[in-house]
Amino acid sequence: MKKINAPLFQELLLEKGVIKEQVYHALRNAIVEERLPLGSKIPSTRALAEMMSISRNSVIAGYDRLADEGYIVTLKGAGTFVAQSIPDSNISNGFSKKPQKKDIPTDGPLNADIARVRNLWSEEPEGDERNPLFCVGVGCTDLVPHGIWGRLLGQVWKESRYELGLHTSSQGFLPLRRAISHYIQSTRGVNCVEDNIIIVNGIQQAMSITARALLSKGDEVWLDDPGYKGARGVFMSTGALVRPVRVDEEGMDVSDGIRRFPLAKLAYVVPSDQYPLGGTLSLSRRRELLDWADTHQAWIFEDDYNSEFRYADRSVQALQGLDTQQRVIYAGTFSKMMYPEFRIGFLVVPPGLKEQFVVTKYLADLSTGYLEQAVLARFIEEGHYARHVRRVRKACYERRTAVVKAIQRHLSGKMTVQQSDSGVHIVCWLHNGLTGHEVEVKARQLGMGIQSLSHYYHGETSREGILIGFANHPPQAMVEGIRRLAEVI
Ligand SMILES: Cc1ncc(COP(=O)(O)O)c(C=O)c1O
Repeated sequence: MKKINAPLFQELLLEKGVIKEQVYHALRNAIVEERLPLGSKIPSTRALAEMMSISRNSVIAGYDRLADEGYIVTLKGAGTFVAQSIPDSNISNGFSKKPQKKDIPTDGPLNADIARVRNLWSEEPEGDERNPLFCVGVGCTDLVPHGIWGRLLGQVWKESRYELGLHTSSQGFLPLRRAISHYIQSTRGVNCVEDNIIIVNGIQQAMSITARALLSKGDEVWLDDPGYKGARGVFMSTGALVRPVRVDEEGMDVSDGIRRFPLAKLAYVVPSDQYPLGGTLSLSRRRELLDWADTHQAWIFEDDYNSEFRYADRSVQALQGLDTQQRVIYAGTFSKMMYPEFRIGFLVVPPGLKEQFVVTKYLADLSTGYLEQAVLARFIEEGHYARHVRRVRKACYERRTAVVKAIQRHLSGKMTVQQSDSGVHIVCWLHNGLTGHEVEVKARQLGMGIQSLSHYYHGETSREGILIGFANHPPQAMVEGIRRLAEVI
């Protein structure tokens, strides 16, 4: 056995924090960095407590944790030793005290397609505020019913005590699939049963699963221009060729897509609220799109991320409800109604695709977390979700109206608000040579999350504009924010 390295222990410095954790971290680092060799003897808890002038109980707690995790072993009558082998993962994960900053390699496992996607994300403005004013893509997080959710969470957790591990299913928790199925049949006109619903971690994962299940390298995919960067990234990363399709006030210009890219394998569309411009796909275009998909045996991915955020009229029904040929893959999400990190969404897939999609979900991450699924199922079944939707709609309408009025009052010479009655952001068209980039930079200096529309174009920006998120703050704060913005631009 190797001897105790007494000077090393005297040098183990404690920093701020809970002492027992400091003991654990100081010793673990010394082991991982090989300052304490494998198999070497370490002091008794009493001796170390004296050397470091700390309580023995703290040392015992630190040693217990190191022993539980396999870093040290105590041999009766002989003392305590660093284990002969320690968990490899801890070493290879680089648990070093002085982590070295490394750039992500651009070659090796990061293939060319993924490197291109990385470039796409680097365009994203970096706000360091946690909840900036006018942040794009966030719903009314201040209205999430914390109390109700907490109560249901407690109930589900208590009830599931003897059932943990029994609910795992890659397709998703059955009561949640059932609740979603009932809800979207009535509110969205989606044609489904619980058996063709798959629970996923948001629409981002829905797109990823779809791309992996249906696309091969070189397949063409339609994407609106300007359009959702998250979709562009997913399809590009599978090696698909993303083809930009024009957009106007009726949403995607389907004829443009058919004329220029008739052989595409998949069309990504946001029929109820085109992102980011907000048009609604007209009925004639819906029919044209479905006919094209049927004729060419192409798939349509319907991103219905924002469908419940409509203020003046009733929600427009889903494209999927019109599909008689089983060409539409429908995706919905709770991230907008709840909060962005909620990470539960769902796919409704034609029966013939179900198995392939469930296997792809299984291979991606086995399944979506049980607990949140179970709570969400109850939240919907007991009517809390529908009530929450009504409350959010009302608040969004008020917030939107307040921001539009403030823009018209303080910024009318600089920009015009595009008419819309949906979504959680406003599109403003800029005048007199003002660019989206300039406004974004100025807004960022004020800690605001306004974005230039230019981020969403595939190529050249055809018109200067900005996106202003309006859902995530009460009206007064936003009105004041618009006034401050007007002062600087
Ligand atoms: C158009 C669009 N689709 C999908 C998503 C992603 O949704 P999820 O949070 O469910 O992954 C977003 C997010 O902002 C979005 O803007």
